[in-house]
Amino acid sequence: MKNSIWTASAPSNIALIKYMGKLDGNIPCNASLSYTLDKYRTVVTLKISDNDNFVNSENLSDESVQKFMKHLDYIRQVFGCKEKFYVISENNFQHSAGIASSASSFAALTLCACKAISDLLHIDTPSLKEMSEISRVGSGSSCRSFFSPWSLWQAESAEAIELPILKHELVLIDTKVKPVSSSRAHELVRTSYLFEGRIARAEKRLASLIFALQKKDWQRCYQICWEEFWDMHALFETSNPHFGYFSSQTLQKLRDIEHLWKRYNDGPIVTIDAGANIHLLWHQ
Ligand code: PMV
Repeated sequence: MKNSIWTASAPSNIALIKYMGKLDGNIPCNASLSYTLDKYRTVVTLKISDNDNFVNSENLSDESVQKFMKHLDYIRQVFGCKEKFYVISENNFQHSAGIASSASSFAALTLCACKAISDLLHIDTPSLKEMSEISRVGSGSSCRSFFSPWSLWQAESAEAIELPILKHELVLIDTKVKPVSSSRAHELVRTSYLFEGRIARAEKRLASLIFALQKKDWQRCYQICWEEFWDMHALFETSNPHFGYFSSQTLQKLRDIEHLWKRYNDGPIVTIDAGANIHLLWHQ
């Protein structure tokens, strides 16, 4: 086993009903629904080593590297494994490109470490549901990346949900690293006066969105997702201290999309994560 190498890859995901606000262990305040971005992936490779070593090819901050290695420790603890690893993590996209790279990287690390440890301990590889729960402890949104194309996350773990297939397009506006990390955003939103009622609003939208997607009522889907991303960004802008991610180009592009819908009574579903970039989901 000394020279064994394990590799696993996992996709990123974009939430249409957002995970914002959490309890200990990354238990979300509300359920969320995401579309899996199969093209945007992280590949993690693990090799047994005398010490833990992380190859920082993505130029991640020290804090991000520590968080990543802490998650490897957590996975080892879950299984009672003592092996050390040489860890390589590579994205096929830029980590500050407005795609949640923490979701794909933590999901890939969880998949790869579970595979490696199961082999080393001669036990069955955990189920996707179990790995989703393990991954959630490292990075909440990563638990949704285990299911495709749609993932529904409620409390401890995510699950697949069957809904129409869409085509994802990213409108790249800004590739700068986020001014406020999502971990900090989860804490700060609790200071907003709008946080009261947030859970009920998100849960109500989730039920309405699933219904609208099942009915292929695209205009309604667009309206619900529009309200939802503005709700999350309004929480950011009314926190204490307040913060925000949009640029003037973000607003301009949103106006263009609104115009498209007004003109043709049709268009893409739109959402924005904790960043300035816009995600479009086109129906077929
Ligand atoms: O998983 P975290 O802690 O990086 O939080 C992600 C939160 C958002 O991306 C802003 C929303 C979401 O549901 O993915």
